[in-house]
Amino acid sequence: MVVCICNAVSDREIRQAAALGAQTLQDLKDGLGVATCCGRCASCACQVLEQEQACALAASQLQAA
Ligand code: FES
Repeated sequence: MVVCICNAVSDREIRQAAALGAQTLQDLKDGLGVATCCGRCASCACQVLEQEQACALAASQLQAA
């Protein structure tokens, strides 16, 4: 799914960025260009980032258990 139409950034790319250490919208702006034109994708990009962070946390907790 394309999240940022202006810069053709997909949710997959955002998830990959999160896996590589992106933690904030600013990280996504710097790394992928998300939300650097019209900005309409900012909330959706944050949701994808937060989902990925939650998944990574849950996976680490499962591994620790
Ligand atoms: S849709 Fe992402 S900056 Fe416009």
